[in-house]
Amino acid sequence: MKILAIESSCDETAAAVVEDGVKILSNVVVSQIDIFAEYGGVIPEIAARSHLEAILPVVQKALTDANLTKEDIDAIAVTHTPGLLGSLLIGTLTARVLAILWQKPLYAVHHLKSHIYANWLERIDDGVRDLPAFPLLALVVSGGHTQIIYMQSHNQFEIIGTTRDDAIGECFDKVAKILGLPYPGGPAITACAKKGDADAYKLPHPQVSGLDFSFSGLKTAVLRAVQAECGLPITTPSYELKNHLSARQKADFAASFQKTACDILIDKLKQALGQHSEVKSVVVAGGVSANQQLREMLTTTLSGGFKGEANEGRRSGDSGVTFAQDIQVFYPELRFAGDNAAMVGAAAYFEIISGVQPTDPYTLNIAPRTPIA
Ligand code: KG4
Ligand code: ZN
Repeated sequence: MKILAIESSCDETAAAVVEDGVKILSNVVVSQIDIFAEYGGVIPEIAARSHLEAILPVVQKALTDANLTKEDIDAIAVTHTPGLLGSLLIGTLTARVLAILWQKPLYAVHHLKSHIYANWLERIDDGVRDLPAFPLLALVVSGGHTQIIYMQSHNQFEIIGTTRDDAIGECFDKVAKILGLPYPGGPAITACAKKGDADAYKLPHPQVSGLDFSFSGLKTAVLRAVQAECGLPITTPSYELKNHLSARQKADFAASFQKTACDILIDKLKQALGQHSEVKSVVVAGGVSANQQLREMLTTTLSGGFKGEANEGRRSGDSGVTFAQDIQVFYPELRFAGDNAAMVGAAAYFEIISGVQPTDPYTLNIAPRTPIA
């Protein structure tokens, strides 16, 4: 089954053709990052206008690159939630019109499901073709979300942990701004942190019970630590701080923040695995899954059998027992970590084979926020 997929939820205009959920026949992404680097963040109206200019050429190129015409396409899939309303509108309107004109079934896909299903796409970087085994935990780390999701099988999502305030990607972006680094903050922090000492500054871990996250305190802790380091009062606006920091201090702050953020994610994931000893795989999803340090730390933590405490386990008899789990950890290929349409094609396929019905192209709506389950 060949699916033409469209993604426009934030600042990437993307279209792809994906066969049977895993095989990438084409993948076109036009990013607006250069526009928003200048502003230090996404401006929704400009994003919508840029999508409008790019969408038809991007869809056309996805078909041309795949060497296909509309007759070869079995279905159309599009992101309809969550995201920026103006951005979502351009992608969904395009998909609705094409579905009506070409008489193809239309599937509306949740953006976070797509990020998770990026882990099923075929890889060309290392040729590894193992697919994630169920049950699994998805660690969703993006610009708008930070969640741990339990999946019993395809298209079954149970949120077991979520952020109570900022998302992890948002936190990278805000800390980057404090340090005077460009948007998007994730890659900029990683590059800056390379020359830094991750132990230079002690940053706090949030005290949040259960599997929930909190990142707004970490952002404020960086702000206060920078103000203190520069000998400035806490009333100093964050946009002034970059002028008081040396390159060395910026690198040390970037490294200390990145390490702490990864530690926080991994601590919660370990706690979640402790409660779910039946889990066979962990899939990492969303823009922050591109982070190399997160990948290295996760692989080190989980490879060779994870030893956890089954103190709050589903298996009630296991209380307090230490066990070893063989867990395989999956990351999307780097080009599929950020927003793209191939992942939308993958998610739609696994929805279809799970029995999800097509949506009505005349009535499909968009929504800025919808929970995955
Ligand atoms: O998934 P995504 O492309 O868009 C959303 O659905 O939100 O995620 C974007 C987020 C941004 O906050 C960006 O700073 C972050 O992902 N990001 C990274 C890295 N690359 C992108 N964060 C940490 N390390 C990276 N290498
Ligand atoms: Zn995304």
